[in-house]
Order: sequence, then C-alpha cells, then structure tokens
Amino acid sequence: MAVEKELGFGVLGLGMGTHHARAIETAKGAKLIAVCDIDEGRLNPTAEKHNVKAYKDYADMLKDDEIDIINVCTPSGMHVEHAIPALDAGKHIIVEKPVDIKVDRVNKLIEAVKKSGLKASGIFQSRTTPMNKRIKDAIDKGRLGNLIGVHGLLPWYRAQSYYQGPHGSWKGTWDMDGGGSLMNQGVHTVDLLQWLAGKVKSVYGAFGVFGHDIEAEDKSVAVLKFENGAIGTLTTTTCAYPGLSQIAVIHGQKGSIAWGEGHLTAWKIQGDNEKEEEKEMLSLYGPKEKRGETTSSDPMAVGSSGHVGLIEDMVEAINEDREPMITIESAKHAVEIVNSIYESGRTGKEVTIS
Ligand SMILES: NC(=O)c1ccc[n+]([C@@H]2O[C@H](COP(=O)([O-])OP(=O)(O)OC[C@H]3O[C@@H](n4cnc5c(N)ncnc54)[C@H](O)[C@@H]3O)[C@@H](O)[C@H]2O)c1
Repeated sequence: MAVEKELGFGVLGLGMGTHHARAIETAKGAKLIAVCDIDEGRLNPTAEKHNVKAYKDYADMLKDDEIDIINVCTPSGMHVEHAIPALDAGKHIIVEKPVDIKVDRVNKLIEAVKKSGLKASGIFQSRTTPMNKRIKDAIDKGRLGNLIGVHGLLPWYRAQSYYQGPHGSWKGTWDMDGGGSLMNQGVHTVDLLQWLAGKVKSVYGAFGVFGHDIEAEDKSVAVLKFENGAIGTLTTTTCAYPGLSQIAVIHGQKGSIAWGEGHLTAWKIQGDNEKEEEKEMLSLYGPKEKRGETTSSDPMAVGSSGHVGLIEDMVEAINEDREPMITIESAKHAVEIVNSIYESGRTGKEVTIS
C-alpha cells in the first residue's frame, strides 16, 4: 500500500484536549501541528511539551494551512459554535462528547457537515473496545433473541472541587454542560446502551441535586422504552462515594450479558457451547484472574486506545473517502435521549422521542 502523507491536527481546548494531543502523537498517519486555548497557563506548557504551535485565538488556528483536522474539546455547550467555523475554514472535525447539549444545534452541525463535504466524527470511545464490539456483534446477530431488558448504572463520584474553579464552574450547569451526571458522565452509558440495543422510543425520568452545590443535577434515573420492544433502566450519579464502576445488564429471550468493575461478568447465551463460550469470553474480557494478559483484550485500556483508534479512523476516513466510525448523526441520539429524560423529569410525563 502506498504510504499516505501524515494529516495535520489542531486541538482546541486543553483539558481533555491534552489527552487528544497525546493520542494524536501515538496515532498512525496523524501529526499534531498546533494547540489552542484562551488559558495561557494551559496553552504554553502543552505547546512546549509537544513542540507544536500555540494559538491563543481560535480564528488564527483556523487559518493554519498545515492543519487538516480540528479536535473540538471545549466545554460541551460550545461544541457546535466551534465546529462550524472549522468546517467553514475547510477543516475536518472530531468533536468530543456530547456533540453538543442541544438537539437543534446538533442538527445544524449535521447540515453544515453535509454541505461542506468534509469528514466529521464524534467521540464515544466505549464503542471501540473489543469487549463492547463483541457484545454488539452478538446482539446484532440475534444471538440473545428479542431483547427484553437493557440496564445501565453509572455510580460515579465527583468532589465539589470538580465543579469549581476556572475550568470547573461550567460543569453541572444547564447552559454549558446541558445538565450534570447524565449529560456529562452518563452520556457514555446512554450512547453505549443505544448503540448496543437500538433506538429509544420514549423515556420517563427523574433527577435532582443531592450531594453538590450545582445548578443542574447529580443524580438521574430513567425508564427507557426501546423501538424494538425492550424496556430498560438507567441511573447516573456523581454522588456515589468514592466512585464505583459502570454496571450493565442486557438480556433477551435467549441469553444475558453483563459487565461491571471494568470487565465482563456474564456471557450466557443458550446453545450447545454455552459453558465453553462463557469460559472463552471471560478469559478474554472477564476479571483479571480469569483473563489471559493481553492489552488488546483489556477493556480498561480504553482510556488511551479509544481516542487513538478514533483519530486513526478519521485519518483512514479521509484517505479512503468514507464515513468515520462515529458520525455526528449517530452521536445525536444520546443527546436526544438525555434531553428527553430531563424534559420528563421536569414535566412528570413520559416523553416520546420524535
Ligand atoms: N471522552 C471522554 O471521556 C471525555 C472526558 C472528559 C471530558 N470530555 C469532554 O471534553 C470537553 C471538555 O471537557 P474538559 O473537562 O476538558 O473541560 P475544561 O474546562 O477542563 O477544558 C476546556 C478548555 O477549553 C478552553 N476554551 C474555552 N473556550 C475557548 C475558546 N473560545 N478558545 C480556546 N479555548 C477555549 C478552556 O480554557 C479550557 O481549557 C467536554 O465536552 C467534555 O464532555 C470527554
């Protein structure tokens, strides 16, 4: 295969953006060209560390001809506001989760992407783990039969200090974070459940502030009704001291799959090889003591490999002129579900997702 030229990346927003900068340096076919932040205390050390250009003004970074792709890593309520000018400047985009906090803005971005003919990727790194891909494959092949129950629990913890200071005060607000534990942290679980189990038709939700001095919420619960007839539950919080890991159970007519503590806990699918298959899956993705030691099968490795994979996917999407793995369209449903849960919590009524 011919060696393709490395594509140039510029990272906007240097909180999570520093993770993108490191991932770009690791990713094949990608070259970090510049970083941008209005906070010089973040900008200068990051630019020095990676030996790349530093832009304090985003408009200046957009004029840089060496940059092909912009990674948008600013607060969630600014994503579309920053993504559209990048497209206007002829840059492809990778947008951190959630794509934005409002569905109408995400729709605006989808239109802008279509018009531009450029590539646009969302970030939901949980979709890239080998374990989650195997679960999706089993569900898509109908191995669990018709789905019955789809359940996710995210009992995380954030200290009050997380919501304070120059880079914390937008978190847990309605206008910049679009919510709290559900929109910020829980959106990963929401996306994973809908990616694995299909679209959600309606929701019934409740939420409140229990353990922090914040505006939006730090605890949400919801009942989810899926288009395929399954029913599910979702719980998110940042109040569960000292922070437990995500737990999920998906069960259908013919089997059940569950995970927690960062690994697979059950793989029970009816069939002649039920026991052998479970043993094999636990040896790949189960608790450490049951697992063969390979990093490629370690679901905990998502921390860095997820972003590297999505950056490499963007490079390939551009070189092969195909859609990226996570299109903006496919990242939108999580935003629809989250906002519908909030609407239900406010009105006390079940909300249908149109
Ligand atoms: N994929 C994940 O697992 C993951 C994890 C954490 C955060 N995130 C997402 O990353 C995004 C950023 O979160 P964070 O925790 O890094 O927030 P943060 O506040 O720490 O960082 C955002 C940065 O953007 C900068 N910024 C704001 N406006 C700017 C502008 N106009 N020009 C240049 N810089 C500007 C801020 O100065 C700040 O440094 C959020 O959307 C969040 O949901 C994703």
